Amino acid sequence: MTRLTDPIEDFRLTRSGFMRVAAVSVGVLGAGGAASLSGSRALAAGPPKPTTRYPLRVPPTVFPASLTLTEAPTVVDLANGGKKPSNVWAYNGSFPGPTIVAQRGERATIQLVNGLADETITHWHGMIVDDVNDGHPRFAVPPGATYPYAFTIDQRACLNWYHPHPHMLTGEQVNLGLAGAFIVRDGVEALLGLPSDAHEVPLIVRDATLDRAGNLEYTPRNGGFEGKIPLVNGTRDPYLAVDSGLYRFRVLNGANARIFGLALSNGAPFTLIGNDGGFLESQVSLNRIDIAPAERLDLLLSFAGLSGQSVMLRDLRAGWDLLEFRVGAGGAGTVPTLGLPTISKLSTPVTTRTFSFDGMSKINGKVYDLNRIDFRVPFGETELWRFVTKGNAPHPVHVHGASFQVQSRTGGRGQVFPWERGWKDTVLLEDGETVEVLVRFDGYRGIYLLHCHKLEHEDMGMMANFEVV
Ligand code: C2O
Ligand code: CU
Repeated sequence: MTRLTDPIEDFRLTRSGFMRVAAVSVGVLGAGGAASLSGSRALAAGPPKPTTRYPLRVPPTVFPASLTLTEAPTVVDLANGGKKPSNVWAYNGSFPGPTIVAQRGERATIQLVNGLADETITHWHGMIVDDVNDGHPRFAVPPGATYPYAFTIDQRACLNWYHPHPHMLTGEQVNLGLAGAFIVRDGVEALLGLPSDAHEVPLIVRDATLDRAGNLEYTPRNGGFEGKIPLVNGTRDPYLAVDSGLYRFRVLNGANARIFGLALSNGAPFTLIGNDGGFLESQVSLNRIDIAPAERLDLLLSFAGLSGQSVMLRDLRAGWDLLEFRVGAGGAGTVPTLGLPTISKLSTPVTTRTFSFDGMSKINGKVYDLNRIDFRVPFGETELWRFVTKGNAPHPVHVHGASFQVQSRTGGRGQVFPWERGWKDTVLLEDGETVEVLVRFDGYRGIYLLHCHKLEHEDMGMMANFEVV
């Protein structure tokens, strides 16, 4: 792993040396078709040519009972069908990992197998589970070992995700390919009659950097990893053949540090119906949505009347074309007006706490210590948590063990955006901003985490342990 330093705090990541990236890029290369990597890869100077696009990969679906998930190096074809092998790290050989689909009330029994050369543990981001199942770094297991998870899924229908969470190694493991979607369904969702099967598509959007041989390469900077190309579901330059009907897109920002500004090339709005913690109380039509690392969106999009046309999903921040929708014939359906469930509002906090995200490695002046409990929170009491920063934002702030409700943002962008209503587990804090949320831990007692989900900040120590007591 490349060593990160916080110039402000002069903190150094000393957990591992410089050899780690080399081990990925070179050590695994032998397994991955060196022959076909040696050909010329001239990046033509000259007139622009139309980008060749490849079919969007959709990860296989699995169920949480008796599931084995193995984290290991593997070889994939990022240009799905382009036949060029790339070394990545993946769950069960799939990049992104298989999509876990669960029903509320179901029991998850998942065996994690560590097929990496470093310790690892998996966190179910957004899932409310007891602490031995939460993937806290103190439970990381060494190479070759396994970790057994068993928990009952009891929360609203929503899109969550899973990814490694080992101490100081999260950024590298996620960036090299270890992440997957975890969809929770319930009876409320079933009654809405939303698009399903081929009309419900997970979109894991992230950035990536490839080495000269085309392998994923982790090149972190103190300010956060910035990849050179976008990937959607692990596919380069993807397209999706759609009919001219109604679709539901389950969007996750799976990037280490990058924020995306999503919009459609034809200027059509997205209909946002949900986010991190499930459905909003009312649908909202938006031309642009900014999504920070680890945030999720539940979007409806109708391609009615667009048969024969192409619509591009764009990132307005980097100016990237993320995904082309090639609209065919057939299909029906415009965006319906949904009766979305009401959300009970948290109110009257008993305690107020302020957390300052300082530099790139500290919360309230402290670098993370795996063995230190930073604060204790009474079970079942509503608290107001105020997030502030002394600089080096953006900091996407994430809480384990409960969802929260965003109350206000003052300074900076000065508002709570429509995609920040309802239940959230990650909220973006920009420089100059104060964000207040209400949170109540009424799921389980135990040790959970508060941290910056810019994974390079997390790995440098911008994380705290708290205990729900
Ligand atoms: Cu998505 Cu503590 O993590
Ligand atoms: Cu941060």
